[in-house]
Amino acid sequence: MAFDFGPLFPAGTPTPAARWAGLAKFNFTGGNNDPDEIPLDGLMAAAQSVLKREGRTLSTYGLNCGPQGYRPLREFLSAKLKRDGGMACTADDILIVSGSLQALDLVNGALLARGDTVIVEQDNYQGTLTRLARLGVNAVGIPLDRHGMRIDVLAAALAELKSRGVRPKFIYTIPTVQNPTGTILSEERRREMLRLADEYGVPIVEDDCYSDLIWSGERPPSLYAMSKSDNVIHIGSFSKSIAPALRVGFVVAPWQIMARMLALKTDAGSGALEQMVLAEYCAPYFTEHVPALRKGLRKKLETLMEALAEQFGTAAEFDDPKGGIFLWVKLPDNVDSMKLYQAALKEGVAINPGPDWSTDKTHSKSRMRLCFASPSHDEIRQGVAVLAEVCRREFGVPERSGNVERGN
Ligand SMILES: Cc1ncc(COP(=O)(O)O)c(C=O)c1O
Repeated sequence: MAFDFGPLFPAGTPTPAARWAGLAKFNFTGGNNDPDEIPLDGLMAAAQSVLKREGRTLSTYGLNCGPQGYRPLREFLSAKLKRDGGMACTADDILIVSGSLQALDLVNGALLARGDTVIVEQDNYQGTLTRLARLGVNAVGIPLDRHGMRIDVLAAALAELKSRGVRPKFIYTIPTVQNPTGTILSEERRREMLRLADEYGVPIVEDDCYSDLIWSGERPPSLYAMSKSDNVIHIGSFSKSIAPALRVGFVVAPWQIMARMLALKTDAGSGALEQMVLAEYCAPYFTEHVPALRKGLRKKLETLMEALAEQFGTAAEFDDPKGGIFLWVKLPDNVDSMKLYQAALKEGVAINPGPDWSTDKTHSKSRMRLCFASPSHDEIRQGVAVLAEVCRREFGVPERSGNVERGN
């Protein structure tokens, strides 16, 4: 008989994972990228040249660059962050991590204890919300409008928390192409958020992994760049601009936090080959790769918006996002997106149901997040048609599907 590990698991360990059952035929979930936009030739050439030149350093943990990661990659990043985000940081202020998810774990590990409070955007990245819940941290959700987090509500929340003697550990924000809403926090609101952060003595964690994917190519300065009091921890990633499977992200942080994160990063360094290949590829090619990627993504978004308009008509409401890889869609109030998710999955369509991406389960009940980056144009059209059919069968909406009136 097989050994039973069950009695050995300590209390409080996470719910066990389900076995992977493969990707759905029409996959609109996750933060996956466009397979046709991965710069394969460039990455292959970069791997060849960097390994030929420096491959022998793979014999050393950390590539002779210390615990913060491959120095040429950090140098590329400090120049890029200065150019694009207005950030005055050097390679010494940057820590390379295994995807920005590891950055979230390190920041949380450095700052949070059970029972703490953190302020977040109400509709939010599931990976952040589940982390905070697992840590027993109270996430106070602030609603968003078309310009990002509502600063009037943030001000009221900070005042209310203070009146109860609660000082939030940080404000976590995705200000530049927010996940899932696709909004960009305006420069004026950034200034206001920083002012409130100073007033209440609360630092900001700026999760900025979509900032390369703004259609216009122009981003507002980062909160890190605008801060006058070194109170912002900035997190970024190559997952959205190059490829998520590489698992390379980074954190820019004041030394007081950096020193704590380094003490918590006990994996003896993130994967070296990825860092070397990225540095070699990105230094010459990043600025030409990203506009091409954006163009391809924008086309897919247009296909998705057209397909939704055709299949759902006015039953699917959404704002045209300013960039990124997601569309946040509102369906009629009677649609329960958790149930829609289950029913659609049986027909081969995977969506992200709203309540997984929000602190407000009522507001998000009839919303869903669709990733348009990884399915092909044809899969987007076909997948949305199947989704509309399932939604009509389960909830009676859309009444018309594919511009054809349906009677029951
Ligand atoms: C807001 C946000 N933060 C972090 C991540 C994690 O990204 P990474 O692949 O860099 O770990 C994602 C991925 O979708 C995200 O949307």
